[in-house]
Amino acid sequence: MIPAAMRAVILREYQAGLDHLSVDDFPIPQPGDHDVIVKMTSAPVHPSDLAFIQGRYGFRRALPTVPGFEGSGVILAVGAQANQTLIGQRVACLATRADGTWAQYLCTGEQDVIPLPNSISDDLAAALLVNPLSAWAMVDLARASGAKAIVQTAAAGALGKMIMRLCQRWGIETINIIRREAQISELEQSGARYILNSSEPTFDKHLRELCVTLGAHIAFDAVGGSLSASVLRALPNGSTLIIYGGLDGQPAQFTVDQFIFRAKQVRGFWLSHWMRDVSSETRAEALMDILANSEDFTSPIAGRYPLEQAPQALQTYESSMTAGKVLLIP
Ligand SMILES: NC(=O)c1ccc[n+]([C@@H]2O[C@H](COP(=O)([O-])OP(=O)(O)OC[C@H]3O[C@@H](n4cnc5c(N)ncnc54)[C@H](OP(=O)(O)O)[C@@H]3O)[C@@H](O)[C@H]2O)c1
Repeated sequence: MIPAAMRAVILREYQAGLDHLSVDDFPIPQPGDHDVIVKMTSAPVHPSDLAFIQGRYGFRRALPTVPGFEGSGVILAVGAQANQTLIGQRVACLATRADGTWAQYLCTGEQDVIPLPNSISDDLAAALLVNPLSAWAMVDLARASGAKAIVQTAAAGALGKMIMRLCQRWGIETINIIRREAQISELEQSGARYILNSSEPTFDKHLRELCVTLGAHIAFDAVGGSLSASVLRALPNGSTLIIYGGLDGQPAQFTVDQFIFRAKQVRGFWLSHWMRDVSSETRAEALMDILANSEDFTSPIAGRYPLEQAPQALQTYESSMTAGKVLLIP
């Protein structure tokens, strides 16, 4: 039996800042033919969620809406044409309908839930899709291009560590860029051999030298702004910079010689496009690898907050992202 209403975090207006969300009663939609209703267990806060509530993400939803792009829970009900055996299954889920995961219930497509084996903990399940699939997809791009080494920014973040661990498993060296000294020891403990601090005056020179020594021709950048330009400059001729995040919030300025005389390229990566464009076999391969090697795709958890404390949870997360993911528990 699907209740008529639930408690949910509600976004009523896209605007800058983090203090414009409220927690209130919100209707639960009836599932469409191929939809499922998930009773949520937990949902993480990602940088993309912060960008979404501020109107800076790749799309907007009609307001009011519930934010939250992923999470985990148990299937409560399914639509008339959906797979009935899903009922009662513990799943990881992506929000692909009108509203998101920061709520007691989620209505989403049946193809957007992944049944979970017992080996996957609730903490891991909460953030099992967005970052792990992105890491897998990007490192797979590097592997397909024959890369021996890659450069990555925001390396101490959850996704950065996944990229590093997957590269280690697939025999690709990583040059890991962080911005604070305190982030070095944790990355070293995870096995990183090459770590550069972008705040150091010697950063550009050392990055250039390492790229040549290790043969890095591909870089993944989550930061944007002046760091994107520095990384592109440091890469050898013919390299590709793939931008997948804009944590800096500033535009990147590239000099044209990088493209004309040095034959470098800049392109973007968005998981939504990757999911749309790759074959179902590739998506299945990625998911099977993530489930089978889940230790490569774990994120530290910095805290768990009830829905009612969502505004506080967002502030905590933004003030110290490297500390780990913040989970909202309905
Ligand atoms: N394109 C896609 O499909 C896709 C998919 C998934 C994720 N992403 C993006 O991937 C990025 C990382 O996500 P995540 O979940 O790994 O985040 P996270 O765990 O919160 O980590 C973010 C990391 O970036 C660092 N950082 C934040 N602002 C920075 C800045 N201005 N300059 C340099 N470093 C900065 C943080 O360090 P501090 O602790 O010093 O702040 C932290 O180490 C985000 O931009 C997210 O939107 C994109």
